[in-house]
Amino acid sequence: MKVTVIGAGNVGATVAECVARKDMVDEVVLVDIVEGMPQGKALDMSQAASIHLYDTLVTGTNDYADTAGSDICVITAGLPRKPGMSRDDLLAKNASIVKSVTELFVAHSPDAIIIVVSNPLDVMTYVAYMTSGFPSNRVMGMAGILDTARYRAFLSMEMGVSVKDIQALLMGGHGDTMVPLPRYTTIGGIPLPELLDEDKIQAIVERTKVGGGEIVKLEGTSAWYAPGAAAAQMVEAIVKDSGRILPCAVWLSGQYDDEGIFIGAPARLGRNGVEEIIEVDLNEEEKAMMKASADHVHANLAALERIQNS
Ligand code: NAI
Ligand code: 2OP
Repeated sequence: MKVTVIGAGNVGATVAECVARKDMVDEVVLVDIVEGMPQGKALDMSQAASIHLYDTLVTGTNDYADTAGSDICVITAGLPRKPGMSRDDLLAKNASIVKSVTELFVAHSPDAIIIVVSNPLDVMTYVAYMTSGFPSNRVMGMAGILDTARYRAFLSMEMGVSVKDIQALLMGGHGDTMVPLPRYTTIGGIPLPELLDEDKIQAIVERTKVGGGEIVKLEGTSAWYAPGAAAAQMVEAIVKDSGRILPCAVWLSGQYDDEGIFIGAPARLGRNGVEEIIEVDLNEEEKAMMKASADHVHANLAALERIQNS
């Protein structure tokens, strides 16, 4: 199998490295507009292969002909946010980048599955979907795994429990309106509300919602280790046809009382991409949070349309 990663910056290079280290595909191709950089990073990763012990061939290129016949593509091309910016501030610039790289990629790999990472995530996934003309099961966005990973990390720090025993679900858009669901969080099989006070849970939920911004403030740019690992986990679920249920940005066509947007929901991933969107029962409060999050994605889509028509 062949995986292309477009954008060889912080997140893209980490995705490529994580995928290679899983030693599960034949080839990873790193693409960027900057000449020499993807080639250099790929060479560096090739030289790490005998230490990490993987046989995956990692190559770098500026030419989409080298991506031909890819099975999976991860799009990370685009600007990351800087301190003081929201993900939404990246809308116009990243939409044009995601549109152009999608066009170039699908011309050479018409049967691939696309995983979008570029921000604002839910709208960029929509752009890739519309541009590619692919069926909705073959286009998805990465955000929920990252946001859930942050939530699990904060729970682990607060409770002194292993992250391995924390199962969690988080839905909605990738932004401050995301919807962590403590009711659907378990620690070693025990529901979270039985183990932790409501105010402590709420503090962790609030920290999770701004978890990306916390790192931007510290580092001056956005995160890449956890985002890269999260996208690689989606690639793995598809490559291995594992049926893992992971929170992903998926195309709604009536689920959760909405349609025509990509937004985070639990999805079963397999060889065909999104094999199933799972609809969990939400109470009235959770439904209201999901609706507010979906409204935000709709508003961002409308803003993009206004920019494109002006
Ligand atoms: P970065 O600046 O390190 O890398 C972006 C790369 O894209 C650069 O190497 C740049 O040359 C390349 N690029 C720009 N235009 C291109 C084009 N037309 N064709 C090919 N390559 C192009 O940024 P970083 O940190 O890797 O972030 C990438 C994107 O991912 C940002 O939009 C960021 O906001 C987003 N992100 C999303 C996350 C999520 O949870 N969905 C998490 C972390 C980042
Ligand atoms: C993050 O959540 C900025 O979306 C990026 O780290």
